Amino acid sequence: MFNNVYKNKKVLITGNTGFKGSWLTCWLLSLGADVTGISKDIPSNPSMFEDLDLESKINYHNSDIRDLNELSRIINQEKPEFLFHLAAQPIVSTSYSDPVETISSNAIGTMNILETLRHANFNCAAVLITSDKSYDNVEWVWGYKESDKMGGKDIYSGSKGAAELIIKSYFHSFFENNESLPRIGVGRAGNVIGGGDWAKDRIIVDAVRSWSNSKSVKIRCPDATRPWQHVLEPLSGYLSLGQNLYSTKDNVGEAYNFGPRAEQNRTVKDLLDTMLIHWKKDLPKRPYVISDTLPFKEASLLKLNCDKALSHLKWDATLEYDQTVKMTSEWYSSYFNDDIDMYKKTIDQISEYVALASKRDSSWTL
Ligand SMILES: NC(=O)c1ccc[n+]([C@@H]2O[C@H](COP(=O)([O-])OP(=O)(O)OC[C@H]3O[C@@H](n4cnc5c(N)ncnc54)[C@H](O)[C@@H]3O)[C@@H](O)[C@H]2O)c1
Repeated sequence: MFNNVYKNKKVLITGNTGFKGSWLTCWLLSLGADVTGISKDIPSNPSMFEDLDLESKINYHNSDIRDLNELSRIINQEKPEFLFHLAAQPIVSTSYSDPVETISSNAIGTMNILETLRHANFNCAAVLITSDKSYDNVEWVWGYKESDKMGGKDIYSGSKGAAELIIKSYFHSFFENNESLPRIGVGRAGNVIGGGDWAKDRIIVDAVRSWSNSKSVKIRCPDATRPWQHVLEPLSGYLSLGQNLYSTKDNVGEAYNFGPRAEQNRTVKDLLDTMLIHWKKDLPKRPYVISDTLPFKEASLLKLNCDKALSHLKWDATLEYDQTVKMTSEWYSSYFNDDIDMYKKTIDQISEYVALASKRDSSWTL
């Protein structure tokens, strides 16, 4: 897989204690990588990082990326061959209550990574993770392309748009014509689902918590439509980009969208109905109740055009809607209802995902 490029390599993940960081850690460990993490805290309770005891499997630095000196000291000491930068304050509602934390972590934190890398004296392929929200959302129906304008009306989106501008200016000012410096690339993806996400304001988290206590979950907007994408989809994209940057100079400084398939859009009600099919324990008579349905105007969904990832990286999304939701529901169902090792369950789901990608002849599986 990934042409074995991660085997026995030093890989540094910022934001390793978070949702995506935990899944990425598991995947890289299964590929034989030597993983180091930098995170300032454990962002949820429960936490996938803690439940899978990932701290014992990697080299973990509890540190804040806003401290440039400390960040540089750790990175220069570790000299990673790959770096995945995921650390961020990622919750839109929190960005309203704490704009300073959000902008300083997401924008200045990214600057500190780049500032460290531009003085690096070791080879490294660095994948910097932003978001689909870094696009200026002009509410059109077409998919956004990597060349579209950056923007963001809320603080979180603005902080990710700012990170993108910082990456672009650092790239053109320092990295572009200097082959001895690390090779950088950018990954953009939208909201993802999957087992192990315990972030607030998430319908799946509310549902599985309620069901595990045999209670109904209340839903407010049953007809809201979302493109449900499994966390392993963008991660296979980030790993493909890392592999590409490591092996060729062709796509250095480029950004890539990693979005779901076009037919993934379903309502919240559909999502819960599909989750329920795969939930193993007794359920309350009414697993969900629709409470005070609010008349709401659905913001137009921001779609990503992923043609560039297909063309340059031979990456496209693997899972169909049902497979996405089945994997998600089964992970939480095992967590609450089975007495099994959740690290093994997570590794098994990664193998299941790889097998499905391999059936579709995805070239990263080779
Ligand atoms: N989860 C999604 O649906 C989604 C969608 C699009 C983009 N993203 C992006 O993916 C990345 C990971 O998201 P996630 O859902 O895993 O988030 P998460 O909240 O689960 O984890 C965030 C991680 O960043 C670390 N962190 C935050 N601020 C830090 C700082 N100043 N210094 C050091 N560490 C810091 C936290 O300790 C944690 O490890 C983020 O950049 C996020 O913006 C996530």
